[in-house]
Amino acid sequence: MKKDKVLFFDTTLRDGEQSPGASMNLKEKIQVAHQLANMGVDIIEAGFPISSPGDFESVKSIAQQIKGPVIAGFARANEKDITACWESVKYSKNPRIHIFIATSDLHIEKKLQKTRQEVFDMAVRSVKFAKKFCDDIEFSAEDASRSDIKYLCSVIEAVIDAGAKTVNIPDTVGYKMPEEFGSLIATVKNTVPNISKAVISVHCHNDLGLAVANSLAAISNGARQVECTVNGIGERAGNAALEEIVMALKTREYFFNVGYNLKTKEIYKSSKLVSNITGVLVQPNKAVVGANAFAHESGIHQDGMLKDRNTYEIMSPEAVGVPESLLVLGKHSGRHAFTRRIKDLGYTLEAPIMESLFERFKILADKKKCVFDDDIIALVEEGISGVKETYFIDYVHVTSGVSVIPTATVRLKKTDKSKTETIQEASCGTGPVDAIYQAINKITGMKVDLVDYSLRAVSVGEDAQGEVNIKVKYKDSVYTGKGTSTDITEASAKAYVHAINKIVVMQKE
Ligand code: KIV
Ligand code: ZN
Repeated sequence: MKKDKVLFFDTTLRDGEQSPGASMNLKEKIQVAHQLANMGVDIIEAGFPISSPGDFESVKSIAQQIKGPVIAGFARANEKDITACWESVKYSKNPRIHIFIATSDLHIEKKLQKTRQEVFDMAVRSVKFAKKFCDDIEFSAEDASRSDIKYLCSVIEAVIDAGAKTVNIPDTVGYKMPEEFGSLIATVKNTVPNISKAVISVHCHNDLGLAVANSLAAISNGARQVECTVNGIGERAGNAALEEIVMALKTREYFFNVGYNLKTKEIYKSSKLVSNITGVLVQPNKAVVGANAFAHESGIHQDGMLKDRNTYEIMSPEAVGVPESLLVLGKHSGRHAFTRRIKDLGYTLEAPIMESLFERFKILADKKKCVFDDDIIALVEEGISGVKETYFIDYVHVTSGVSVIPTATVRLKKTDKSKTETIQEASCGTGPVDAIYQAINKITGMKVDLVDYSLRAVSVGEDAQGEVNIKVKYKDSVYTGKGTSTDITEASAKAYVHAINKIVVMQKE
């Protein structure tokens, strides 16, 4: 018997990007969108076009370039938002306008300062307006899980009558328990008279760690679209993690008895890509994609695994695309192997970028015996970050030690409108990294505050590269930066300059 399919609606580029510090630039968003399409997601929510010119451009570029999935844009229930949304998604072969308005009394009265009737009318009017542009309209009742159920159902019925093809029931603040949320979806399915004309969708947040459980409960009760993000990134505690939902459907196939179009073997690549681009690291014990998800530490477990993998593994690392061997390339590897590996890691790059990366790979391979996947990812990320390098590190010298005041001398090249100047400054600090950062602040004249700093070895061995991930605050916004080098002071300086270059780009945008 043909199974019902659950559609995967990925919102990594919209709700996911709302994670603090996870903002991505245009090139990065396009990379992620390519990989989401490779993974077979059904719908990509590319952004919130009215929210900024940058968002508008990225939704438009994704609509122009990404073939296969439906490309959706987010819009409030008003004509201006919907028109901007259409103007950006219309370039896709399969465009969707996703309209939302809150339906809980709390949001209606306190946030929107309206009445239920006014919200009802706005919802219907906006769907009718959007219908003039496009057939594929999704309507979301924000904070649906805390809305009066009768009122919620009346709004859903009315927007379906107005032409909505998908009705989304978000658990916006991650409040519901799986049983309650499942029964809410059952009520919508069983009591809204015209519900068969629309797909029921859910969008669960993870404030109580239940986003995936709630999404699965919804599927069991008739939802046929799930909204989720790669690695579960998103507002506050995040959204439901795409990889966890699909692996539950795959591993417990007979329990859920639904199909899907997603290619689970693309999960690992997608997870790495999103984590590398956003700088939001994946916790080691995270289900499906954490570094320890398939590691077996205890002797008893290892013994069981050697006898039969099923003793302690309910899904295989291969099923989610974890590469069999982490050791890949060395200094004798050629262009072909390098290009192939980059493609396998989920990147779609143009020939000139590939060529310059190959040159950098050769330099790295001369310094390191073994070049691991993570080294390659770090290389690619540096090469394609697409952040225009206003500042470029020319020289860093730092002294530190016991009974020494940490002091750094830094020289940066600054390129602005094809004029390049070299600026040098020295500074003391609480430690060598702080001294470097203070010197850079003097050079740029920008008041940037470091809010988070982490250092990890990118791969294994004595010659492993250090990867520094930082978060900095500038004028109330948080930016991430990443730098890699076999020298950790250089990696620290690179990460800071990377963040500063992002700030310069964002400020211009
Ligand atoms: O969390 C939410 O409710 C959303 C929208 C779908 C309205 O992001
Ligand atoms: Zn959300």
